[in-house]
Amino acid sequence: MDGTTLDRWGRVEPHPAGAELRVGVWPGIDPAASLLGGDRRRVARPAPVTTDVERLAGLAEAAQLRGRGGAGFPFAVKLRTVDQHARTSGRSAVAVLNGEEGEPASAKDRVLMTLRPELALRGLGLVAGALGAERSFAYVSDRLARERLTTAALATAAAGHGDLAGLHVVDAPAGYVSGEESAVVRALSGGPAKPTHKPPRAFEAGVDGLPTLVSNVETLAHLARLVEDGGRHTPSVLLTLVGDRGDRAVVEVPDSVTLREVLIWQGIDPARHRYDVLLGGFFGRLIKPRTLWRTMRDLASRQYADTLGCGVVLVLHDTCPVTAVAEILHHLDLQNAQQCGPCFKGIPSMAGVVDDLAHGRAGREDLVRLAGWGTGLRGRGACGTLDAACGVVTSLLERRGELVARHLTRPCRRCAEHPERPPATSFAVPWPADIKEQT
Ligand SMILES: Cc1cc2nc3c(=O)[nH]c(=O)nc-3n(C[C@H](O)[C@H](O)[C@H](O)COP(=O)(O)O)c2cc1C
Ligand code: SF4
Repeated sequence: MDGTTLDRWGRVEPHPAGAELRVGVWPGIDPAASLLGGDRRRVARPAPVTTDVERLAGLAEAAQLRGRGGAGFPFAVKLRTVDQHARTSGRSAVAVLNGEEGEPASAKDRVLMTLRPELALRGLGLVAGALGAERSFAYVSDRLARERLTTAALATAAAGHGDLAGLHVVDAPAGYVSGEESAVVRALSGGPAKPTHKPPRAFEAGVDGLPTLVSNVETLAHLARLVEDGGRHTPSVLLTLVGDRGDRAVVEVPDSVTLREVLIWQGIDPARHRYDVLLGGFFGRLIKPRTLWRTMRDLASRQYADTLGCGVVLVLHDTCPVTAVAEILHHLDLQNAQQCGPCFKGIPSMAGVVDDLAHGRAGREDLVRLAGWGTGLRGRGACGTLDAACGVVTSLLERRGELVARHLTRPCRRCAEHPERPPATSFAVPWPADIKEQT
């Protein structure tokens, strides 16, 4: 980090709470479009707006707003579908702010909820108002974020931003799968926060069997911004940058910048350093080199194999990608909901082979089995966790094939320095007990 990069008001500095987490905003990002930056006094109290489904969907469509929780689903399509199911069934819709952030390497949702809780609430209020939802939920496991949302909810509702009259702020169980849409619906209906098989999807039969819209915090915050500035600005993008040298940052960037430009801004110049990048967090892929030249807009569009997912950029300077993938597989194994055989048997099997690979114990036949699992197990779990494991394994084999092959002939020095089967992931973002506003 060269020390000249930005915090949300202009500079990147150590977090005021002392945690190793920096919050930065791209220089010159338009304050009217920004979630974390800009003049808070000017943008914090827009005039209250109420709107209808078509206007909301139209604005989201024009801005190409896609979900920021990982799947990148177009928001306008989701909103219209929930509305249509509510109308045809004659039942009230439910709106849910998904504030669970189960991805260990992500912190952008918690940063947004703690620093700007009113933004996503305004988005939720607009959705609930447009759908005529009698109930809405903010589903959040982090205590600090929940407290900030609860406090902000009163002011936001009083200011008349959409309809928050039926809002419940709910204490969600923390975990990798508890933020998955069907797990959210199940938990809010009184069950365990574990995924279910689809169909039905939430838009047809969600909370208590009602048509339900579940949206990520960042998605709803962008929606509020879009409505309030009349769709004049393109939504920005929140990223969590996680380096294996302990560097952690949540940054907001315009959607027109490339991944390479973001990394150079953060002092990690691909031309000067040799490193691997895993994009999309534990659900992600080791990227192809040309992905560095893609813009955030391209990476969010899902037209390329490498996608933004939930916006985690994992930079591996010192960690061999083989060890990194082994660590991710162990985490997914510890966190899976133990419901589907192919998942709770398949993930540890893949983790075992990648461990063997890291320590020079694997043979060619093991690689053949690993490649077979990576493609053959896809789509065989109730939620996407098994697909996440398959995706990360396949990207290792396809994109770092030469490096993988070298591990067959001799143990890797970098892998040997890492613990086998780590009890906790080293890629998690430390989270402070409290965050104070910077002035
Ligand atoms: C295993 C798994 C875990 C997920 N965890 C989260 C999560 O913690 N937070 C979140 O917002 N979305 C999570 N998602 C995505 C949700 O299922 C859902 O797509 C999202 O909340 C919808 O909001 P969006 O359209 O605004 O992205 C997860 C998906 C999967 C498959
Ligand atoms: S796919 Fe895995 S994590 Fe998802 S519900 Fe099945 S066992 Fe649980």
